[in-house]
Amino acid sequence: MEEKQERKRRIVLIPAPAQGHISPMMQLARALHLKGFSITVAQTKFNYLKPSKDLTDFQFITIPESLPASDLNDLGPVWFLIKLNKECEVSFKKCLGQFLAQQQEEIACVIYDEFMYFAEAAAKEFNLPKVIFSTENATAFACRSAMCKLYAKDGLAPLKEGYGREEELVPELHPLRYKDLPTSAFAPVEASVEVFKSSCDIGTASSMIINTVSCLEISSLEWLQQELKIPIYPIGPLHMMASAPPTSLIEENESCIDWLNKQKPSSVIYISLGSFTLMETKEVLEMASGLVNSNQHFLWVIRPGSILGSELSNEELFSMMKISDRGYIVKWAPQKQVLAHSAVGAFWSHCGWNSTLESMGEGVPMICRPFTTDQKVNARYVECVWRVGVQVEGELKRRVVERAVKRLMVDEEGEEMKMRALSLKEKLKCSVLPEGSSHDSLDDLIKTL
Ligand code: UDX
Repeated sequence: MEEKQERKRRIVLIPAPAQGHISPMMQLARALHLKGFSITVAQTKFNYLKPSKDLTDFQFITIPESLPASDLNDLGPVWFLIKLNKECEVSFKKCLGQFLAQQQEEIACVIYDEFMYFAEAAAKEFNLPKVIFSTENATAFACRSAMCKLYAKDGLAPLKEGYGREEELVPELHPLRYKDLPTSAFAPVEASVEVFKSSCDIGTASSMIINTVSCLEISSLEWLQQELKIPIYPIGPLHMMASAPPTSLIEENESCIDWLNKQKPSSVIYISLGSFTLMETKEVLEMASGLVNSNQHFLWVIRPGSILGSELSNEELFSMMKISDRGYIVKWAPQKQVLAHSAVGAFWSHCGWNSTLESMGEGVPMICRPFTTDQKVNARYVECVWRVGVQVEGELKRRVVERAVKRLMVDEEGEEMKMRALSLKEKLKCSVLPEGSSHDSLDDLIKTL
């Protein structure tokens, strides 16, 4: 018995190839590694994660596929996922079979990103326990499931823009409106529904881990538990559970921290739209004018290639936008460090789930400008449920930008949001400490492995 407890066990993880999915999966890997498990990461060439000095404890194996390297960018995330899942279904079975044949350690389970659903069949073939990992939240899962049901019942009508139901509340998803449902900006509704149907079909998975905290979305978690009838483990915010190995796919520009060090407390608005949101050139110019007119200091992440129709460098943009010394622009920032900095007073965000958790984890109120999928769900929750931010909807005009920034940075309303954000920060901090909900949830999961 004792011998069995001491024997090391290995977990195989399959992250989806996107920054917002790789980071939480690696944070989970680190949390499990700290609990004594060996870690194998199975990935395709699209993930870019290499064994580095910070990841030496992890083993990496490659899932063979023959997709063109350009597919990730050319197809857009939805079509790419459909293709990747089809491509890997057979090759992953073979790859897993070869891997198992060489294994000394017992495999505790296979944990796969909910959008890497090809992994379920392979793990089933080898009789391995399967755990789904949702890097988005429980409410987003509920919305995807609702979208599939709506589509099956009424077709495109309730889901498509222009059908006139955008502002209506979706039954049983209060306070979400039809326009907040996680449709994609990159593909037609039919394609999103195809992916959602597969990702919501849990097959023979034995449980699900979600990067969330039970106090944030208790009713969605209860709904999920009833709907899926498997144990659900809310284990988040993962970035607060275990110091993650660096998984940034773009080089972080640390100089912005020196710049922040020179600013007054809570005087800077941080702007970042995640790893794949795109902006029109005219929106960028309106944004720049609005920021300058707001008279606030700002730190702005502009990813190379993120401005549609513009090949300009950040330096060229900088001079074109006539940004004063109140502004600082970088291509990629050490975001968690930025949000933890005392100079940062608010976060203009696309509301990717990682960014949302990182902001709430530091008590930073948000201006929400969602672009696609679950970001719309998160933005609505930030504004109407957690009440730690405001959403900017409609056309992005300089006046709208200026007004939103002042609401958060200058008005009393912003101060109230800040207080609520700080109280939420404390709750999230407690959830990852011993006897906190996420801490206990991780222990419960481990008992089952
Ligand atoms: C995607 C989806 O858009 C998101 O909705 C989903 O919930 C997860 O996958 P992404 O758009 O990249 O993610 O957004 P987000 O989830 O916020 O993840 C971005 C990550 O990049 C965050 O962890 C953030 O800290 C990091 N980041 C972003 C940086 O480290 N530096 C930056 O300059 C910008």
